[in-house]
Amino acid sequence: MADFYITTAIDYVNGSPHIGHAYEKILTDVISRFHRLMGDKVHFLTGTDEYGQKVQQTAKARGVPAQEFADTVSAEFKAMLPRLQISNDDFIRTTEERHKKVVRELLQKLFDKGDIYKSQYHGFYSTRQEQFLQEKDRNPDGSWPEIYGEVQEIVEPNYFFKLKAYQPWLLEFLAANPAFIFPKYRQKQVLEFLKEPLNDMCISRPRERLEWGIPLPFDEAFVTYVWFDALVNYFSAVADKPGTWPAAWHVIGKDILVPPHAVYWPVMLHAAGLPLPKGILAHGWWLSAGSKMSKSKGNVLNPLALVDEFGSDALRFFLIREMNVGQDGDFSRELFLTRYNSDLANDLGNLVNRVLNMTNRFAAGSIPAPAGELEAEAELRKLWGETRAEYVPLFEQFQFHTALERLFVFIRSINAYIEKRAPWKLGKSAEPADQALLATSLATMAEALRLASVALRPVMPGATDKINAVLGYTPAGTWSEELAWDGRLAASKVAQSLVLFPRPAPQAKAP
Ligand code: MSP
Repeated sequence: MADFYITTAIDYVNGSPHIGHAYEKILTDVISRFHRLMGDKVHFLTGTDEYGQKVQQTAKARGVPAQEFADTVSAEFKAMLPRLQISNDDFIRTTEERHKKVVRELLQKLFDKGDIYKSQYHGFYSTRQEQFLQEKDRNPDGSWPEIYGEVQEIVEPNYFFKLKAYQPWLLEFLAANPAFIFPKYRQKQVLEFLKEPLNDMCISRPRERLEWGIPLPFDEAFVTYVWFDALVNYFSAVADKPGTWPAAWHVIGKDILVPPHAVYWPVMLHAAGLPLPKGILAHGWWLSAGSKMSKSKGNVLNPLALVDEFGSDALRFFLIREMNVGQDGDFSRELFLTRYNSDLANDLGNLVNRVLNMTNRFAAGSIPAPAGELEAEAELRKLWGETRAEYVPLFEQFQFHTALERLFVFIRSINAYIEKRAPWKLGKSAEPADQALLATSLATMAEALRLASVALRPVMPGATDKINAVLGYTPAGTWSEELAWDGRLAASKVAQSLVLFPRPAPQAKAP
């Protein structure tokens, strides 16, 4: 039983993970951690999509059996998760028995209901590329581009799912649920696609052409088309967990919104009499110098190399701070280093060290209780009140980049507050008023840092655990309680120092 079930797309196993894959897992992890902090019982699923032509082809090219190849690459994706601090509850592979069983049951149900029928498939097929082609793939003069080699016109029997019959229902559903697709502007793209009459969906491949798939339960001479099988993972993974389905959100990239997630999947669920998820969150792409990072373009960045160099908190922060969820973002080492140096090393890292250093120097390492409040303290507390009031709603609306932008305004204001109070000057004075202000300033900066750290927890779980530990603080309440400004750190013992974000060596330049 979970009250917030969230999923990522399941990755193809025909290549290694890159930043695009890492981003989607991190984004989903931030949402999961946020909901856990808000008191929800979260179930977070991710996994790998292992059947289909491409995997069969790649395995063949490497001379290994498809299953063996899928095992190796799936393990690589799975091993990446802890290194990115992903808190998934389950990892599904479409080659697992628990998945295949549910796919076959669903196919049988739709077949028995009359929603799946056998017919002739008519299309053009490139043997060299092992793929079906469409009219739009032709050269302007009607010939086929050289890359396809010999193109055959194929007429072969296949099974079809009655997608078209559900088009009016889908249109009604989307009109009644305008928040089903996030960001809302992407709904237009779906409606555009639905302006044309849908074709029924060819959901099989003859086994003589494709072995690597789930055999149809009602005709073993065919395997299931990979998308029909892959989408079902969201349901098959929780088939034995009553009360978990439907999902709250499916987090996916914009390239697989239309038609798979916004057309096929809702119709498949509806036809099978299953409830629909609350929504589909379609994020944008990470681009490299303006073009999509992808295995085929060879312009991919290995996320684990960045984790080795800067730590996964820094990578998580960069990806979540920089990307406006739904839009595209540019990834470059320069941009990464700029954020790392300014926000993390300078603003946050320095703040932590100043708080530790001054508490040790002027209060023997024990955070004092505040002795009253003057204007500067009241101002900082007011800014926190405003930041906090915006922060949680921004998280609820997936506006993480804005939430972090606001939070870093607050963090920089803590640093400005320290400059203004200059505890190093107050510490030299024996005046009781100066001593009182010194205690107040130490208490204020520590409390403000604690709040910033609590607010950063979903994004940087490792770094914020370290900050809490050096402040002698163990968060115990709900997020809302923890985000309240109070004097809970009084008498806490702080550590000597903490280097969270070391400056990169000067030779770390752009490639
Ligand atoms: N296997 C299908 C998904 C099936 S879901 C039932 C698939 N796999 S994929 O490996 O190609 O992509 C997995 C996810 O990574 C997709 O959501 C895709 O949008 C995302 N990304 C792949 N490259 C990306 C970027 N360059 N940037 C951001 N995310 C992108 O599609």
